Amino acid sequence: MKHTTVRGGMVAQRVRTVEISGIRKMFEAAPPNSINLGLGEPDFEPPSEVIEALCAAVRDGMNHYGPSAGMAALRDKVAEGYRDREPKTTRENVIITGSGSEALMAAALTLYNPGDEVLVPNPGFVLYGPHARLMGATPVAYSLHERRGYLPDFRELERLATRRTRAIVVNSPSNPTGGVFPSKVVDQIVDFAERHDLTIVSDEVYEEIVYDGSFASFWGRTNRVVIVNSFSKTLAMTGWRIGYLVAPRALALDLNKMHYHIMACPPTPAQIGVLAGLSQSTKAIRAMTREFRARRDLVVRLLNRIPGVEVIPPAGAFYAFPRFRWNKSSSEVAMALLRRGVITTPGDAFGSLGASHLRLSFAASRAHLEKGIGILRDYASEVDGV
Ligand SMILES: Cc1ncc(COP(=O)(O)O)c(C=O)c1O
Repeated sequence: MKHTTVRGGMVAQRVRTVEISGIRKMFEAAPPNSINLGLGEPDFEPPSEVIEALCAAVRDGMNHYGPSAGMAALRDKVAEGYRDREPKTTRENVIITGSGSEALMAAALTLYNPGDEVLVPNPGFVLYGPHARLMGATPVAYSLHERRGYLPDFRELERLATRRTRAIVVNSPSNPTGGVFPSKVVDQIVDFAERHDLTIVSDEVYEEIVYDGSFASFWGRTNRVVIVNSFSKTLAMTGWRIGYLVAPRALALDLNKMHYHIMACPPTPAQIGVLAGLSQSTKAIRAMTREFRARRDLVVRLLNRIPGVEVIPPAGAFYAFPRFRWNKSSSEVAMALLRRGVITTPGDAFGSLGASHLRLSFAASRAHLEKGIGILRDYASEVDGV
């Protein structure tokens, strides 16, 4: 691989193939006391039993390395939760990782070769394309059009699949669209992957946060799948950095090899906290989702009243992805809002089909949502029809 000379030495060519995400740049430019509708994390704290379990673990000396694939008890508990999808799921299928992000990286390292093509959603979460590029593979965007309810177009997928296509990345419920794939679409994707000899990388980190319809997992439908999941969103612990992978056993061994080379093992105290959470926190997760649903309804109502703005109610996750019809780029609109004190994320940070969209996170208080969307309404009254 080629090298690039920079001040202070040489860096590998791959460093030049990726950038720091547009979302982070937005935060860095924000004036103090801005209303933050850019957050990709719940504005809740982890359930109290989870915090207690982590604190007790730290005090009791659980401050050391553990098994690379995670603590057996936690792997067992995660596997138990997947047995209604595939009754034969055991701890051998589960690897505890240092976050969903790390799980995605371990999957990329395990699956993609230089020269491969990887189908990634457009719009889609910001890591999928860069991870493919870092492996020397080419991300190939497949469309999730608003007019199709943010579901894939299988005729387009058929056109995009080539002999080099190695994998398809899917994310339902989706960041940023809030789209949730019905069971029938999940089956169609499985069928597509089987016909083209692809592995499915299914990012299911928002599986617990669904408002309309029901979540359909890829696990139990095919053995060509790697499930990426995380405790970040469901247990409101984005800063703890803990997630997991679920995969067929042989593939799990290879994923674990890559995971070991990234981080040796996941954090021990966080695993103990999560274990307590999985046993006791269903009520807290439901309460959080109920609050998100109420905010989703509020946000959709407020946005659809703004001239020049339209939004499809998100069926899951905690993002609204409104379209605006002004002759402006999504970064221009997001920057104008930022100057007025509200942080949003420009839709094109998630791919070309995010143009003319903003992503608004409703992981913010109702008061902030009302105020922030009020600022958007004032802005709209200046630019709409101009
Ligand atoms: C779709 C999706 N996948 C994965 C992640 C990564 O989550 P974490 O690394 O906190 O587990 C996120 C975080 O925003 C996400 O939105």
